[in-house]
Amino acid sequence: MPDKTVPVLTIDGPSGSGKGTISRAVADALGWHLLDSGALYRAVGFAAGMEGLDLSDAEAVTRCAQTTKISFRDPKDGSETRVIVNGMDATGEIRTETCGAAASAIAAIPSVRAALFDKQRSFRKTPGLVADGRDMGTVIFPDAGTKVFLTASAEERAKRRYKQLKEKGLGVTLAALLREIQARDVRDAGRAVAPLKPADDATVIDSTGMSIEAVVAAVLQLAR
Ligand code: DC
Repeated sequence: MPDKTVPVLTIDGPSGSGKGTISRAVADALGWHLLDSGALYRAVGFAAGMEGLDLSDAEAVTRCAQTTKISFRDPKDGSETRVIVNGMDATGEIRTETCGAAASAIAAIPSVRAALFDKQRSFRKTPGLVADGRDMGTVIFPDAGTKVFLTASAEERAKRRYKQLKEKGLGVTLAALLREIQARDVRDAGRAVAPLKPADDATVIDSTGMSIEAVVAAVLQLAR
């Protein structure tokens, strides 16, 4: 059973809002653990792809979510957290747009979300947890002491993602990314189960035009 006395800070919001970067920086500043819940959905999307599953086959994908072994490893040199899926390092693969789209599709299946419920809650360990996702404050940790909903305009998010992918040498266009982000927003906000929306008690931060440092400072201010 996760310890309910362990403090949790949730950071929810759409993709490209800077959640990943902000959550990591806030967790480091507080010395807390980090849950990247999107990576879990991406890992299941990746595993389903490896198994050649039809993503609309809810039963098969749910079985995949229940059986896929996902772990995170932090390299000693402080570089990017490695995501291990069924014994294979899938850190790079899960970040592709293909895996993001697969994650978004399977995340709409209620039994897939249920399969990942306990796993997400098990990250709640002393001295504290920063939980990054879509439904951290609404569904997984409704009792979290601090809840942030981080957003930014779709154009700004597309630009950030474009820059990230370019740096990795991946060929994409800004217009295509913007279309994908808008389509994913509609899907994530419109699904029947755990739709993307701020918790009633969340503080909304619009990071459009804000520096990473300014957003981190604003979140830490709320936590303290
Ligand atoms: O944050 P991300 O882009 O890595 O998330 C990938 C997909 O997973 C996203 O399209 C929605 C889904 N997701 C979710 O439904 N619930 C979460 N808590 C995290 C991610």
